[in-house]
Amino acid sequence: MSSQLWQRLVFGFRSVLGPKPARAESPVVLLDPGPDREGARVVEEPAWHCDPASRFEQEQEEEDDDSIERIEDAKAAMDRSLAWRSQILLERSAGSAQLGDGPAIVASLQDPEGGVIRQIPFAAQQALAVSRNPMSSVGELVKLFERDPTLAQSLLKTANSAWYQRKDEAVVSIAAGVQRIGMQAVENVLLTSIVAGMLCRPGGAYGVLVGKVWAHMLRTAPLAQRLAPAFGVDPETAYTLALLHDVGKLAVFDYISALRQGLHREIRMPEPFLHELLVRLHEPVGGRAALRWGLGVRAARTLAEHHRHPVPDTTDPMTELLYVAERLDLAAHVWFEEPDWEALWADGTITTDREAVERRYAMESN
Ligand SMILES: [Fe+2]
Ligand SMILES: [Fe+2]
Repeated sequence: MSSQLWQRLVFGFRSVLGPKPARAESPVVLLDPGPDREGARVVEEPAWHCDPASRFEQEQEEEDDDSIERIEDAKAAMDRSLAWRSQILLERSAGSAQLGDGPAIVASLQDPEGGVIRQIPFAAQQALAVSRNPMSSVGELVKLFERDPTLAQSLLKTANSAWYQRKDEAVVSIAAGVQRIGMQAVENVLLTSIVAGMLCRPGGAYGVLVGKVWAHMLRTAPLAQRLAPAFGVDPETAYTLALLHDVGKLAVFDYISALRQGLHREIRMPEPFLHELLVRLHEPVGGRAALRWGLGVRAARTLAEHHRHPVPDTTDPMTELLYVAERLDLAAHVWFEEPDWEALWADGTITTDREAVERRYAMESN
């Protein structure tokens, strides 16, 4: 598959087609809510792809309330969003684009039980629970890494990264690594391993695309962490959410891969339809995955709205950060160009002080 093709499929048509076409020429591209540099500039276009009624209530004071009621409310909102976006996807796609398995896959993705998204393996769920329990001791956290050399290596690599390193002292033991990076970073090391193991298996139908998306997510996480102070958000939470921001795309690829195995044949889906499906559905699918994996309502909501289209009703610095970080990553590693800060702020309706973010980006890039 050519590099242009994967860019088009995964990151949006604009990444390979050059300057923005006139609106009348290509409404689909212009309405693209994905990481498309130009699409989001069409501010006068109604947010038809996202049912306003399916959006989350902005309840800042209850953001960390993960009661069963609130989780159910969030799940219902995701379901409505997915249903709405799926309907639009099917209505707006040309008849020829809908040939093959695409429409059936869209229907399956709406399964209210979320069966399309695989559950995290039990052992990994237990490990995550330990990493999230504020009562866990360093000894319990160390145990998570002792029997897995790959995980231990990831932990040490994180502990010795520029972000955590103190006075050039290298960390060589798991216990020291855990103590240096803290619980949430331990959770991030676990989450990275879990997502890579579950959703980035080699040999899948779209292995190359999965690899590109995952690489983008892995790069965006530390970038978001470094920019977080300029947005006034917690750097570790920023890392987690940026790491997972496009997990909905991986879940879609994983489902297609499983379907291919189950049917013992290749999945038939025209490229334009796959592109539209990924762009339009990956946010609510990612939000559902976060809920299914017990990551909490706030995380789910952020993943489900990270393209800020439509723009949140109230100030939401975390989605602002994700929007900016992922676009900066695409500019640097996919589009190979200097960031257009003015367009970035306008496209994402970013309210954070731009100069502060630019300064931080310049500082961290050097
Ligand atoms: Fe995305
Ligand atoms: Fe992204």
